[in-house]
Amino acid sequence: MPRVVTTVAEWRSLRATHRAAGRSIGFVPTMGALHAGHASLFQAARRDNAVVLASLFVNPTQFDQENDFEHYPRTWGRDEELMDAAGVDVVFAPQVDEMYPNGTRYAVTENEVSNELEGAHRPGHFTGMLTVVLKLLQIAGAERAYFGEKDWQQLQLVRGLAKAFFIPTEIIVCPTVRETDGLAMSSRNARLSPAERALAPKFNAALVGAATPAAARTQLEATGFAVDYVEDREGRRLGAVRLRQTRLIDNVAR
Ligand code: PAF
Repeated sequence: MPRVVTTVAEWRSLRATHRAAGRSIGFVPTMGALHAGHASLFQAARRDNAVVLASLFVNPTQFDQENDFEHYPRTWGRDEELMDAAGVDVVFAPQVDEMYPNGTRYAVTENEVSNELEGAHRPGHFTGMLTVVLKLLQIAGAERAYFGEKDWQQLQLVRGLAKAFFIPTEIIVCPTVRETDGLAMSSRNARLSPAERALAPKFNAALVGAATPAAARTQLEATGFAVDYVEDREGRRLGAVRLRQTRLIDNVAR
């Protein structure tokens, strides 16, 4: 099983040992509830680095609704096994006070991309995400950090963050991992009822198959999805939909 560290000081001391031995570090930040998508990030980190560090921290500041934070799946036992199988060496699993010693006095705000798409529907989400990712990248001190393409807007913002704050860690993108029926792997899929799970792959099918974003929206609404947005941006089609209380996001190349 991976070694579990809960404090920044403990990881820094371990990191110093790895550094002294000339070992490279690959870092994968997560909020737990791990699935095959996370496993692909761990495996990419395993391939490129001597040491694989994962973080498991359900970051309260990136949830725009308290209810969503409370109901976010927490599956520590299964997560440990998946990390073990995927070759994770160390998991950093801090408490909230360790990550936010000054509460929310300090935060990272991006003023353009953060207000669009996901940002327009989840106020404050990207400020919380960028703040915790900056903290985690600083703590990890890794050569490389791995992010999934499913969260396309997050990925663009993290790349911009690393550049803006002179973070020397290379940001590596890994392709979205899908179920055989096309549904993008997500921790939130576990919340779908059997009927919703049967409907969910039609989301990806509409993003791929519809001629225009407007046609995709019409198709999705007719099938029973509530559509937050479907937009074409920078060679990709991005969408977010809701099936009762479960919100799904996805994006595909155009
Ligand atoms: O993508 C996620 O799981 C989270 O946004 C991240 C990057 C771990 C930050 O909390």
